[in-house]
Amino acid sequence: MSSALDRLIKPHGGELVNRTGPRPDDVESLEIVGISSRELADLDMIASGALSPLSGFMGREQYESVLKTMRLPGGLPWALPVCLAVDAAPNGDRVALAGEDGRLYATLDVSEVFDYDAEREAELCYRTTDEAHPGVARVLGQKPRYLAGDVTVFERPAPPFPELALDPAETRALFAERGWRRVVGFQTRNPIHRAHEYLTKVALETVDGLLIHPLVGDTKSDDIPSTVRVDCYRKLLQGYYPADRVVISAFPAAMRYAGPREAIWHAICRKNYGCSHFIVGRDHAGVGSYYGTYDAQLIFDEFEPHELDIEPMMFEHSFWCKKCGSMASNKTCPHGADDHVFLSGTKVREMLAAGEEPPIEFTRPEVADVLIEAYRP
Ligand code: ADX
Repeated sequence: MSSALDRLIKPHGGELVNRTGPRPDDVESLEIVGISSRELADLDMIASGALSPLSGFMGREQYESVLKTMRLPGGLPWALPVCLAVDAAPNGDRVALAGEDGRLYATLDVSEVFDYDAEREAELCYRTTDEAHPGVARVLGQKPRYLAGDVTVFERPAPPFPELALDPAETRALFAERGWRRVVGFQTRNPIHRAHEYLTKVALETVDGLLIHPLVGDTKSDDIPSTVRVDCYRKLLQGYYPADRVVISAFPAAMRYAGPREAIWHAICRKNYGCSHFIVGRDHAGVGSYYGTYDAQLIFDEFEPHELDIEPMMFEHSFWCKKCGSMASNKTCPHGADDHVFLSGTKVREMLAAGEEPPIEFTRPEVADVLIEAYRP
């Protein structure tokens, strides 16, 4: 078994971090720092090693290095800050972290508290300071200082879909058990429509296995809720994917909508889960029109291939072509836009709300049924 595990891609930085530990006896006497749901998701991913090599919330040197160079001090790629915002420095050198539900989840050994410039962070990470951008709005609305330090998590937050909750060590064990070496990871915050299905299957043709890894942390209010999406994934997997080649599991992160930088971050996290390849399609992790259609692919050129180790699999905008009679993209199809089935998000929402199934070339009927049920007024 250990040799099969050794054949998988190494975690980012070489070792899977594990920041779980026993609940300290004195935890009730520590100063309590409240954390947001996004920070709790990050905390849980630090605990499980999904954010390896991070062992806690970033200090100033790490933060500055990530903002300016997309690398940690020492040079390892890292694209987005993982920070904990507070109003003021705590008194002691150890604090307890409490979620919005008031429960205590972890201790943090304070290494530093520092001021940051939220607008600068937004500009460097999100390429905009526009408050209409949901990720930027979150950064601009945060508390004014960052609290840094290593964490020890003694209670893991309850996963929203327990049967889909797999830590990096568990996905790695599963891949090894199945004898997979090359595994492609697929990030999504949407139901799997035909275009998504196409990317995942084309990618799977060239590797051993597919990890469908839908994000189930915080998303913006008009995104389709994860509860609905998970029903869609189940239906689709039952009907259209071979069980022995696919693992579905929930990715606990919150969405940042940081487009290009988030694509790098998403890829690094999936490397920790054991993926050697990662799908990056059109406007990955984008929102509105803040990013160019392929910016999230171009950013990979800012790294030497060996630096990330995980290999991006880039896809052009895919659609159904009536003349080809298949899914295609402008790379593979010579026909014009009139022959392509294209539906905007708004159009799809309107159809679903009216109880109308989008065409089978756009979404599988089983998925459409789940969505129509969810959209029923
Ligand atoms: S994302 O925020 O998670 O990127 P979404 O779930 O829509 O949003 O996309 C998941 C992945 O599929 C991303 O890599 C995205 O670029 C890709 N993708 C979505 N739709 C298409 C499409 N029609 N053509 C090519 N790639 C696509």
